[in-house]
Amino acid sequence: MCGIVGAVSTRNIVPILVQGLQRLEYRGYDSCGVSVHSAGPGGPAGALRRARGISRVADLAAQCEAEDLQGLTGIAHTRWATHGAPAVANAHPHFSMGPHADDGAERPGRVTLVHNGIIENHEALRAELRARGYHFSSQTDTETIVHLIDSLYDGDLLAAVQAAVKRLHGSYSIAVLHRDEPRRLVGARQGSPLVLGIGADGKENFLASDAMALAGVTDQIVYLEEGDLIDVQLGKYWVLDRAGQRVQRPVRTVQAMSGAAELGPYRHYMQKEIFEQPRAVGDTLEGVQAVVPQLFEAAGQPAAGEDAQATFQAVRQVLILACGTSYYAGCVAKYWLEALAGIPTQVEIASEYRYRASVPDPDTLVVTISQSGETADTLAALRHAQSLGMRHTLTVCNVATSAMVRECRLAFLTRAGVEIGVASTKAFTTQLVGLFLLALMLAKTRGRLSAEQEAGQLDALRRLPGALQAVLALEPQIIDWAEQFTAKEHALFLGRGLHYPIAQEGALKLKEITYIHAEAYAAGELKHGPLALVTSAMPVVTVAPNDALLEKLKSNMQEVRARGGVLYALADADTQIESSEGLYVIRMPGQSGLLSPILHVVPLQLLAYHTAVARGTDVDKPRNLAKSVTVE
Ligand code: M6R
Repeated sequence: MCGIVGAVSTRNIVPILVQGLQRLEYRGYDSCGVSVHSAGPGGPAGALRRARGISRVADLAAQCEAEDLQGLTGIAHTRWATHGAPAVANAHPHFSMGPHADDGAERPGRVTLVHNGIIENHEALRAELRARGYHFSSQTDTETIVHLIDSLYDGDLLAAVQAAVKRLHGSYSIAVLHRDEPRRLVGARQGSPLVLGIGADGKENFLASDAMALAGVTDQIVYLEEGDLIDVQLGKYWVLDRAGQRVQRPVRTVQAMSGAAELGPYRHYMQKEIFEQPRAVGDTLEGVQAVVPQLFEAAGQPAAGEDAQATFQAVRQVLILACGTSYYAGCVAKYWLEALAGIPTQVEIASEYRYRASVPDPDTLVVTISQSGETADTLAALRHAQSLGMRHTLTVCNVATSAMVRECRLAFLTRAGVEIGVASTKAFTTQLVGLFLLALMLAKTRGRLSAEQEAGQLDALRRLPGALQAVLALEPQIIDWAEQFTAKEHALFLGRGLHYPIAQEGALKLKEITYIHAEAYAAGELKHGPLALVTSAMPVVTVAPNDALLEKLKSNMQEVRARGGVLYALADADTQIESSEGLYVIRMPGQSGLLSPILHVVPLQLLAYHTAVARGTDVDKPRNLAKSVTVE
């Protein structure tokens, strides 16, 4: 998804901006660009200059060098197209071009801007600005902001931005420069993240949409809040809240994140992240000695007077809100919450819930699940639930500094580490660990977990890293399956009960990175329609643990074989499912009872990964997708 980097410095800032963009590349983008107050020999001092392209950031770096683009103040952007195709004209930074341009000719105007988010009233603004003589050169919603700021400028960039954002509907984080104020960078955020990075010795300051972009230049980060504006100058900055009042936001020291970018012996980040799962799960469980409310307060900021214990005692039902892979984690959690804690649980796709007329109950625990903590739909769904009077909120999240953690009363922080591959893997398994602990917590609160059962469940959790390691050792067998999947264009995934969401997650992984059309069904649904698709050309992946539904699942598998379908089964040791003609079996090591979904998803991640490698797709940055979906 889009990324922003900006800087005010005493040195040429272009290489820093480009490196920042490189650090954001993993989020997915289709064009990129940089603009500066020109300070080098390559252009007139004081003019705004830019370079933009629709290829990789490395090509942008070469372009900047070839054109001798230099400056002490600048902004840069990676764009993930929403309004307007990926094209140079639509790439950011945009320039204002209107009645105020020097001579009306098509040359850079006075304002340049980068933007993440979506401006919903862009059509009305475009019509208004056109009528006032502004010239539009792109199809983007963003271009309306740059002209709007230009139109409101009267010698003070901060005042112009402040006035402009009042006219914007939608979500944005922006960074803006004005030609006549060379040592000033103004930013604003609403619905899309923006951080300030404080440089060393008062010599430079930075803006970015993600602190990760600034790894290597500073670890001193200020997270802006919704509605904030920021005036960044050399060695100083001011934050204004949405009411225009100067406010102090805390400066946080963030951990060095550059290590995450090392691939080590792996070919892709996704592969690295799959193999990191024993460590990630172990880290997430670190320090968990007992099922206690404090596990859910550690990272969050519980509201004064309300602790986690009081919340768990007060709630009568659970509403889980999430998107994509995180949604499937929620679907697994529903089984755990209802079976262990006996608490009614609903799981909703965040983008649906936020627009649905639902029936709110103030005694609901609203649980959001998000790797990034910045997913626009999930944040909006959370805010919608809060607006309906549901104040008991908890997030299971991988980013301690994210909006999600800040906005929920309680938080369980997963410790997966930075996840770079667009296809989520280690975030999912660590989310499941957090959700299982939540189910145990609610079970205990409701008197449904004896001390003996608690000890047994914690013991099972502690055995997970070792069990994951054993599953990863199945990789050579999965590679054999992947070879057979390479030439396929369709696949079905079947599961039942707890493992139905795992089948769904397996299908999502496969379609996301191999572009093979994959669908998942609760196996009992097969005969109600999808069986019509089954032929010898249709691989059917079946998640077959030895649970209460095994015999039913075996019947479903017979239904597939009887129609010539080819089965690929992940079967527990004692299921008595053996390889035979048209049935390929990978035997899962050990048995993990209720925790089995955490193990069974791993071969499906590996299957998607190796099939993608064999098909030659861009595994870590699949087409059309972004890592963190910060627009609706
Ligand atoms: O950061 P989040 O967990 O909120 O992201 C939610 C989805 O966008 C994400 O899980 C997406 O589905 C992944 N690309 C799946 O691999």
